[in-house]
Amino acid sequence: MNKLTGGCVMYKVLTKIIVFLAALGLLFVGCKGKSDSDKPKDISEITVGFSQIGAESAWRTANSESIVSEAKKRSIDLKFSDAQQKQENQIKAIRSYIAQGVDVIGFSPVVESGWGPVLREAKEAGIPVILTDRAVDEKDTSLWVTFMGSDFVEEGRRAGNWLVENYENVKRADKPMKYIKIVELQGTVGSAPANDRFSGFREVIDKHAEFKIIKTQTGEFTRAKGKEVMEAFLKSEGKNIDVLYAHNDDMALGAIQAIEQFGLKPGVDIIIVSIDAVRGAFEAMVEGKLNCTVECSPLLGPQFFDAVEKLVNGESIPARIVTEEDVFPQEVAEEVLPTRTY
Ligand code: AHR
Repeated sequence: MNKLTGGCVMYKVLTKIIVFLAALGLLFVGCKGKSDSDKPKDISEITVGFSQIGAESAWRTANSESIVSEAKKRSIDLKFSDAQQKQENQIKAIRSYIAQGVDVIGFSPVVESGWGPVLREAKEAGIPVILTDRAVDEKDTSLWVTFMGSDFVEEGRRAGNWLVENYENVKRADKPMKYIKIVELQGTVGSAPANDRFSGFREVIDKHAEFKIIKTQTGEFTRAKGKEVMEAFLKSEGKNIDVLYAHNDDMALGAIQAIEQFGLKPGVDIIIVSIDAVRGAFEAMVEGKLNCTVECSPLLGPQFFDAVEKLVNGESIPARIVTEEDVFPQEVAEEVLPTRTY
């Protein structure tokens, strides 16, 4: 071996050693990074994005309050946005949460369909999604980790059951029992609660031939629209209406105003059953203007952030978390009203 080839071999060996050491170093850095991110995050380091539907009802206001105050209580950085009833605003908000790299995304979908693409984007970015309050109708259930909220079909059934079991006792004495005419105020078109409360109620009512739904229309879950649509129902049906079934209390409260302005007594001339169990419904029941409200709890904040904390700590959570709820007829309103927090 001459001097030149000896130097060349030495150079090659040295290069190999350097490459090996560099690779080892990289490996070390890589391992360190991985174990750091695997560590459970401190709750104060978490960022959560939450896309809310809007502020259409007392229920929604209480729901937003529950989410925001619970985040504050746990010192979690919450990015909260109000979509003002527009799906495109919710999709924009979710995309911006993905771009910001939040730890978890929560949202209450305004309607059931059309979420596939944005949910896939969140999945590809590795950000878990929690559905709260309302479901989506995507087949691929791996696009969200859990869906927490009420069983809306059951709420519709409960409203129907209360009506068939109690109508005879609460109706005006001179009202004939044959053909009880029901008008229905539906929630937001295409939303899970409107679809499910519609079908749950019919599951029960359709088994009782004496009950007939004569009019059904959306009141968009708002008091103003509930009043407006009830005015139209009264205009076309007059004193013919026996029962109002409203998909939420706000619409029932708006309809109560319309009924009074029409010169009839809500809760007496027209029996009213609605859903949510907000304070306003209890106040109306105490005044005898509403007959029954089926509970739908908006207080999802604690449950939501329990799930968030579990997720960021790598713990598993059930795919469906159903809220427990009750039915409140007028007779219990006075006693229960002081305990209502929303
Ligand atoms: O999704 C829940 C429903 O949305 C509530 O019953 C209604 O009041 C709200 O706006």
